[in-house]
Amino acid sequence: MLVHSLARVALVTGLLGIALFAGTSATLADGGPHREDVLSGGSTFGGELCATCHRAHQAAGPALGGTEAQREVCYSCHGTSALGSSLDIADGVMAATSRGLKGGGFEFAIMDTSGAGNAVSRPVTSAHGDAGANGVAWGIGDAANGAGTAGFELTCVSCHDPHGNGNYRLLRPIPVGSPVTTEVNVPDEGTEKTYAVSSTSNRYFGQIYMNGNYQAQVTLDQWCAACHNRYDATGQDAAYASSADPIYTYRHGTRMVDPESGNCYGCHKKTVDGVGDAINIAGITQMTAHTPVCENCHVAHGTAAQMGEISQAVPLPDGSMAADGTIRSTLLRLDNRGVCRACHGN
Ligand code: HEC
Ligand code: HEC
Ligand code: HEC
Ligand code: HEC
Ligand code: HEC
Ligand code: HEC
Ligand code: HEC
Repeated sequence: MLVHSLARVALVTGLLGIALFAGTSATLADGGPHREDVLSGGSTFGGELCATCHRAHQAAGPALGGTEAQREVCYSCHGTSALGSSLDIADGVMAATSRGLKGGGFEFAIMDTSGAGNAVSRPVTSAHGDAGANGVAWGIGDAANGAGTAGFELTCVSCHDPHGNGNYRLLRPIPVGSPVTTEVNVPDEGTEKTYAVSSTSNRYFGQIYMNGNYQAQVTLDQWCAACHNRYDATGQDAAYASSADPIYTYRHGTRMVDPESGNCYGCHKKTVDGVGDAINIAGITQMTAHTPVCENCHVAHGTAAQMGEISQAVPLPDGSMAADGTIRSTLLRLDNRGVCRACHGN
């Protein structure tokens, strides 16, 4: 399975030594060929796996920087019918099953986006990086940057470190092109990996991240906000107090300062003793309802959610309209604004 010939990334021989010797001896919990111990073949020079992704003299893509050729390196194992991994991210499934991967998919996804069950594979309506070289990294940088940075080409290695790093899903501590200078390390789940959504009907809303640990979920939120920094809003106040940003002025909180404080009665019934039941139309737990981090509303790769006329016509942050309204599904986990009702119940 590892003898793939599609590798297209130039091997920079001058840097080879650095890559081999700079590694620590610690065994990282990353999967497949992305594990440091596997990459080195367990010895200083024993590693075979460099050859699965690198060509010394016949590479079709440059060693650094996000390019389409690099995406194909990944698809050689992670694409449709590519047998190098059980993770078929093109179709958004565990290979040869109908269980959806947590990130959704890049071409197709099996997602119950309406709550009706019976999820079938459908083409994605929006995906991270589908704009190619014309992407706008919305909300990146400060207010002087307008709605975001245009011409931001996003590839697999913008977000993932192909050499492994011990973070959840090899997420780079500093995503390529992000303005952050402080590393955001998302805690890994350990050696036991769970790649499929927990719902057997492939409903993506209500997925619990980081075992529900609030602080760990915030690291995942901050990781998305390494690029989309102006979307990250601390606490309920962000819905009421101006951020002074001319575009991202009032925002839904994405991390509560203290999940135990705030207005509980927006969702719970008032009782003499405190809070009563919440209206819970989606059957979620408080681990989801109380933590409106990015990943509770959005998937990371792509969604098959459908938008009606009104949701399709929501302008983009720069005031323009999406060329095709269906892409206004904007990586959301549920159709239309189902995500709002699923937590607030009303
Ligand atoms: C799963 C595929 C994959 C494997 C296996 C792999 N690499 Fe890479 N490597 C890449 C990609 C993709 C890049 C480009 C990263 C970027 O653009 O940031 C890269 C970049 C590099 C670079 C440039 C500097 C850097 O770290 O970004 C060096 C040096 C390198 N690899 C060495 C190695 C060596 C040595 C091995 C074997 C021990 C290896 N690679 C195994 C995919 C891989
Ligand atoms: C030679 C085959 C191969 C190539 C090429 C490859 N992968 Fe993988 N990848 C795997 C395997 C195997 C796993 C472990 C999961 C499994 O058992 O299928 C994995 C796992 C992963 C994971 C999950 C890791 C974790 O710790 O949860 C990510 C993320 C990932 N790969 C990204 C990439 C990216 C990005 C590229 C392109 C730069 C790439 N892979 C190229 C085989 C490959
Ligand atoms: C490396 C920078 C980077 C990181 C990290 C990042 N994004 Fe993005 N995001 C972009 C760019 C660039 C675009 C627009 C380009 C595209 O999608 O083609 C985008 C687009 C989006 C969109 C609009 C999608 C669409 O099709 O219009 C959403 C929603 C989004 N990101 C959410 C997230 C979430 C949630 C995370 C964390 C899981 C995240 N982003 C992490 C760079 C990033
Ligand atoms: C904008 C950042 C971003 C980009 C671009 C991106 N990923 Fe991911 N990827 C993530 C995040 C975040 C997760 C974790 C998703 C989750 O657990 O919900 C993930 C998960 C994965 C997984 C584990 C399976 C899954 O779906 O959860 C694999 C494999 C993977 N990515 C490979 C890739 C490959 C290959 C590409 C390029 C085609 C790519 N990713 C592009 C951020 C990104
Ligand atoms: C966004 C809506 C929302 C807000 C705001 C909210 N909750 Fe919840 N809460 C829920 C939902 C949905 C559940 C899961 C359903 C349930 O168990 O009733 C839940 C569950 C709970 C539970 C567990 C109940 C049980 O029976 O397991 C407690 C306790 C709780 N919330 C307390 C609070 C407190 C205290 C506040 C204010 C600080 C608050 N909630 C704010 C929606 C919300
Ligand atoms: C409570 C649900 C929710 C949360 C949490 C959330 N989003 Fe969104 N996001 C949406 C909805 C709904 C849209 C569609 C546009 C709209 O209605 O404003 C959207 C749109 C976007 C877009 C596309 C451009 C735009 O503004 O329309 C980006 C990028 C984005 N979100 C990134 C993020 C990031 C990054 C986080 C975490 C810091 C995050 N979102 C948290 C619901 C959410
Ligand atoms: C993941 C669960 C979740 C989702 C999804 C969600 N919210 Fe919230 N929302 C919350 C929480 C938690 C608060 C903060 C409550 C508090 O601390 O008072 C909140 C606060 C608000 C507030 C501020 C008023 C208040 O009661 O504090 C508004 C308005 C709001 N949400 C609207 C929306 C809309 C519109 C959507 C869909 C785009 C949405 N919410 C989706 C959980 C969620």
